[in-house]
Amino acid sequence: MNYKIAPEFTRRFFLKSSSIALAGGFTGAFAWDDVQAAAIKTFRLRAGMSPVALIPDAAVKTNAWCFDGTVPGPEIRVRQGERLRVAVENALDEETTVHWHGIRLPNPMDGVPHLTQPPISPGSAFTYEFDTLDAGTFWYHPHQRSFEQVGRGLYGPLIVEEQTPIRVDRDLTWILDDWRLARDGQISGDFGNMHDMSHNGRIGNTVTINGRVPETFSVRRGERIRLRLINAANARIFGIDFDKHKPVIIAIDGQPVAPHVPQDELIVLGPAMRIDVVIDMVGDVSQRFTLTDPFYRGLKYRLVDLVYADTPLRDRVPDWDMQLPANPLAEPDLNDAERHDVIFNGGMMGGMVMQELGGSMGHELMGAMGSMRGMMHSGKIWFINGVAAEGHIMEPMLRLVHGRSHIVSMTNATAWHHPIHFHGHSFRVLSRNGNPTAHKEWQDTVLMAPKERIEIAFVADNPGDWMFHCHILEHQAAGMMGVIRVTQPGERT
Ligand code: C2O
Ligand code: CU
Repeated sequence: MNYKIAPEFTRRFFLKSSSIALAGGFTGAFAWDDVQAAAIKTFRLRAGMSPVALIPDAAVKTNAWCFDGTVPGPEIRVRQGERLRVAVENALDEETTVHWHGIRLPNPMDGVPHLTQPPISPGSAFTYEFDTLDAGTFWYHPHQRSFEQVGRGLYGPLIVEEQTPIRVDRDLTWILDDWRLARDGQISGDFGNMHDMSHNGRIGNTVTINGRVPETFSVRRGERIRLRLINAANARIFGIDFDKHKPVIIAIDGQPVAPHVPQDELIVLGPAMRIDVVIDMVGDVSQRFTLTDPFYRGLKYRLVDLVYADTPLRDRVPDWDMQLPANPLAEPDLNDAERHDVIFNGGMMGGMVMQELGGSMGHELMGAMGSMRGMMHSGKIWFINGVAAEGHIMEPMLRLVHGRSHIVSMTNATAWHHPIHFHGHSFRVLSRNGNPTAHKEWQDTVLMAPKERIEIAFVADNPGDWMFHCHILEHQAAGMMGVIRVTQPGERT
């Protein structure tokens, strides 16, 4: 990507792009200037407080913070290549922003308070506008005090349809969330407490699909469903077992992947991740199946029941093609890539893991450990390369030359899982603990297991300062965040 950014960016960019009206698809090399402005799709989102019915039939409603009075917020759905304009109004009592998670867009539209825009103050508004390059399943949420704003219900789905979608009977979105509700049905107000921040984040006690505690979901024999799963929880990792059904993964984080059934047939989503699956309904009429989530050992629960209608849709499953068309992502050149190391540390029991890994990893890690000890006293809990973030403005942890390929080797030197998210780019996941991945999946959020080492690769083709952080929102708030700078075209680091 290669658009020229200027301080007066916003107006110029809008005027320029929206005045071009050409037909046709994407071409090889990509530049923001080449993006062909199609119709502009306009939406309005109002962030505010509103009672919502998370538990059907319950007498009480839960006071949530949400977009347009609903959880999730309205689905924004456009076609690939279309331009999106969203006016966000802030009816909260505090500042907010909206980040378009996973969308590759110009930096000033990224919704990071102070870094890419001033936060939207109560009673005011901000208009986001960008072209959609990639088809896929994305979502939106505030980036201001996310651990509380997202935790209280501010999020919604953003679906970019392919020019020619694959054939299915139904295309559905399930946004998963996990709430910590008190006995009175209200959201427990203990956001950002020390225990959640230093362990595995704010795990709740009530799981919802599309803002409801689900009971049953009706399907028909022979039906093919494309299910877009989005994990909007602050901290809960979901692992969905579809019982007798084989979920075929066709996209991860919006990006197409060779259709495959995962190991154990379990669909695992760290916070902020999306997975599109195709599921053929192979059960018999009137049968009932239970979807469960066994991800946390000893804490398996029933997610929802699939209930088959008493008339089939068809007798056997269709053999339609499941492969999605590729998105216009630049392919990293692995033979000519710059290499970078990133180490995550901190948290409860972090010292132990560091000692363990320390011997094999040498000075850099031990250095990071030293500075960690010092900073623990200042209340910061998680560190990236020895630094804990305090807010969104910071010295870049990496400076990447625009247009070049980069390989980042990431080490999770903690005792916890972390879904690591990079803004403005999608990256290929090359390897885990030295073993090449089967599909070199494109992702924007990669779930790292404790002590895991993961290599990712991408072309730094989108200039600007981009957040790089753990999407367990309590970890992010307690320091697990950094800025990666991609230089302007022609600029040196
Ligand atoms: Cu989903 Cu930095 O965010
Ligand atoms: Cu984390």
